[in-house]
Amino acid sequence: MAKNNLITLYCFGLEIGRLGLDEQRGASFFQYNEHFLQQDRYKRLFPLIFRRIKQTQVFERYNNDTFRGLPPMIADSLPDLFGNIIFRTWMESTRRDMKDISVLEQLAYVGNRGMGALEYHPNKSLSPEDTVNINEITEIVSQVLDQKRQQNGLQLNHDSLFNIFKIGTSAGGMRPKILVSQHKSSGVIIPGDVASGNDYNHYLVKLGMDDEARYSRELVEYAYYLAAIHAGIDMMECRMIDEKHFATVRFDRLEGKKKHVLTATGITGLNYMDPKDSSYEHLFDLLVFLKCPHRDIEQLYRRMVFNLVFANHDDHLKNHSVIYNEDLDSWNLSPAYDITYSLNPELNIKTRSRALSVNGKRNGIDMDDLALIAEKYTIKNHKKVIVEVQDTMTYWASVARDTGVPARIIELMLKNFMIFV
Ligand SMILES: Nc1ncnc2c1ncn2[C@@H]1O[C@H](COP(=O)(O)OP(=O)(O)OP(=O)(O)O)[C@@H](O)[C@H]1O
Ligand SMILES: [Mg+2]
Repeated sequence: MAKNNLITLYCFGLEIGRLGLDEQRGASFFQYNEHFLQQDRYKRLFPLIFRRIKQTQVFERYNNDTFRGLPPMIADSLPDLFGNIIFRTWMESTRRDMKDISVLEQLAYVGNRGMGALEYHPNKSLSPEDTVNINEITEIVSQVLDQKRQQNGLQLNHDSLFNIFKIGTSAGGMRPKILVSQHKSSGVIIPGDVASGNDYNHYLVKLGMDDEARYSRELVEYAYYLAAIHAGIDMMECRMIDEKHFATVRFDRLEGKKKHVLTATGITGLNYMDPKDSSYEHLFDLLVFLKCPHRDIEQLYRRMVFNLVFANHDDHLKNHSVIYNEDLDSWNLSPAYDITYSLNPELNIKTRSRALSVNGKRNGIDMDDLALIAEKYTIKNHKKVIVEVQDTMTYWASVARDTGVPARIIELMLKNFMIFV
């Protein structure tokens, strides 16, 4: 492996191995650090895809938009759509073309600022700045996303773009979002890309933009959060900031420590963009393979039912994650996130198919399909779960009203909710 094409992977302060990428071939190479292999800790850090051998391993099958040639667990650290827009805009502002930035260089920008606990060296050090004004950041992000303004040339100064680059490129997903940390006693908000101390609460904030939607998607997501909790779904605490932005406490930063987290796509290499990879059964099988407690399997069943009942069609494989327990060398289902009404309520979505299939179906899923999954994964009392989730519908409507979702939108959404009989 040529030296300048290598990056070193760290986790929990240990060197895990080295990674190379031949972008022309779309092939990557990984070699474990021998000391890491010899020691007895963290044996299940990567329970799939990497074999625990000292020889170099070659990966050639991940040459697509999702993985960009990288092993999936590493590709999980790269930004998605929103992060990439910010990345490109910032690079262009420094007169560099995205085409000239290699994937490994992008990982070097992730450095120690990524989601989860994986870190990359060499890393590009980015000077810290002090506080964050979320509304100011939102205004700049909206300028970056505004195509018309982009075409007429962006009038943004380098510093403001740089700030967004720092805190807006780590998390995945399509919607505009930033990472911030809030001091527990003073309430001061600082950039959340590297801070991981226990004096702060760490948030992922989905920014409320005044975009084309005639209602606040963030308020809808907040109402979904309240309903999901009510229906027995495990989620991190979420709150609205200035009734505009949706903030969720990060589960990859707990008690001041980084947690190793991988999305279902990242840990398995199943492509969330490929329908044939995308089923709830794959998720259940993953939990079984990881020897997660049965409670996690029941929780996944409840989430599946919730997403079906509340028409969350966008429940793809990057919207489910697993979290590593470094003390027990074991895995669990992570708290749920990105649970919301994912489509335009003003269109009739009954015919749109969902991201994850259930018993091979993306439409017309019925009680028999749910019973079959319950039997396959030994879910006791699955009918009770379904009833409990369905009973949350009235609660959802009332919290949506109380949080300020327009009545017309609530009506339209309710029409698309599903009842299993
Ligand atoms: N509470 C959280 N703690 C840690 N990581 C989180 C949390 N919520 C979300 N994430 C991570 O951030 C990513 C983006 O968040 P989210 O899925 O909510 O954004 P999105 O832009 O709505 O996504 P999508 O493109 O699926 O619509 C998730 O894929 C997940 O990896
Ligand atoms: Mg998402």
